Amino acid sequence: MSSTPLLLPKSLKALTSPNERGGYQVYMETFGCQMNEYDTELVRSIMKARGFQFTPVDEEADVVLFNTCAIRENAHNRLYGHLARYKARKKARGLVIGVLGCMAQNLKLELLESRSWIDVLVGPDAYRRLPDLLTDALEHQRRGLAVDLSEYETYAQIVPDRGDGVNGWIAVMRGCDNFCSFCVVPYTRGRERSRDPEGILEEARRLVSQGVRQITLLGQNVNSYRSDAWDFARLLVAVADVPGIRRVRFTSPHPKDFPPALLDAVAQHPIICNQIHLPLQSANDRMLERMGRGYTRREYLTLVDAIRKKGPMVLTTDLICGFCGETDEEFQETYDLVKEMEYQAAFVFKYSERKHTIAARKYPDDISEQIKGYRTNQIIELQKEISLRKNQALIGTPVEVMIEGDAKKSDQQWMGHTEYNVTVVWPKGSAAHLPGDLVSISIQDATPSTLYGNASENPLSPF
Ligand code: 5AD
Ligand code: SF4
Repeated sequence: MSSTPLLLPKSLKALTSPNERGGYQVYMETFGCQMNEYDTELVRSIMKARGFQFTPVDEEADVVLFNTCAIRENAHNRLYGHLARYKARKKARGLVIGVLGCMAQNLKLELLESRSWIDVLVGPDAYRRLPDLLTDALEHQRRGLAVDLSEYETYAQIVPDRGDGVNGWIAVMRGCDNFCSFCVVPYTRGRERSRDPEGILEEARRLVSQGVRQITLLGQNVNSYRSDAWDFARLLVAVADVPGIRRVRFTSPHPKDFPPALLDAVAQHPIICNQIHLPLQSANDRMLERMGRGYTRREYLTLVDAIRKKGPMVLTTDLICGFCGETDEEFQETYDLVKEMEYQAAFVFKYSERKHTIAARKYPDDISEQIKGYRTNQIIELQKEISLRKNQALIGTPVEVMIEGDAKKSDQQWMGHTEYNVTVVWPKGSAAHLPGDLVSISIQDATPSTLYGNASENPLSPF
């Protein structure tokens, strides 16, 4: 099904012809998860094929695009702040403004009606329509909307337009059929669909030829990947077997369907990092039931046991505090389990009611902002202590790190990650290293999020 652009008159003043500068200039900002970063690479590719050019300078742009996230209210608020900035600029000199991704899908007409200066809204399954809609907006001052969800669109034949660097992402599946009651993703990204394995492997080989050494396989629910006889474990191993790849990661698996074959693949294949992101959300069975997560606390712990029996394996997690009806005691169960689990890192969120979701329809959002905030901070503080302790335990040890690029604060330092995905920063020194190299770093200092060290003379440790 294709959507029709809205033909609403508006007062955009005509922009300079693209031919004078070789193509319309586009400035794009991305919010949200790695999947959104990947989608931005797809959008760039789709637009460049139609003659649009990208600029890192927003003042030079004819078109400003926001690739958005709808997962929590604060993602919405951030976008509104940005949009307001460009409203004035549009008035002053003409500009086409487009909102892409999950928020476009989630709010649709509501966003178009409430923000009269937005020209184009395009959801995650309709990016192929973007060049036409933008051209219509630029040349005929028409507003456009394309928010159909597709059961088939995987953008399989689009070669993502990526920047440099040794990290590459591949979306292996799109959408989600889990309908966790708090989550808007099944509504903004639609039904689950997997790409064919050959296309994924070809993309992996292409990334390697571009200098990528670490690939992260992405999916809202990666272990639901299925394509004929291929499941996710088989795909993961096949990607890790592509010559030239040094590390493979994946995110996010769902604890309710984590098959033993996947665990074996992670534990046995030397290229697949021994780090698993395993979102718990809550450790209380009543909350898990309300969240529609499909596992109990006991089942989650049984899986963690199986994972830990396989040898050194680092776990990270996501947690939601203040979900509908969560009592102090129920929260305490989560707090206590986080203490026990000793995750390497936990991403802790205040529950944020999302329109259309099962929870929004079924349960009152009855925990005050203050309590949500208090609980969230409690776990953040606890996790900080745990992460710090774990990181400090590495002081004096050599760890293997992949060089990813200059450190944020200084180009005299390298930044990279351990196999367990902990950030490491160290002075470049005189050694002739390059991004993508695996080096041994002797750790000298630690914060909850970062290890600091020096390139060590010792052989690499198995860390
Ligand atoms: N409120 C708060 N956190 C949420 N997440 C998803 N939906 C919501 C919501 N409505 C969190 C979950 C998920 C992570 C990506 O975002 O913890 O695992
Ligand atoms: Fe959202 Fe649950 Fe799907 Fe993850 S598995 S994207 S939390 S519905």
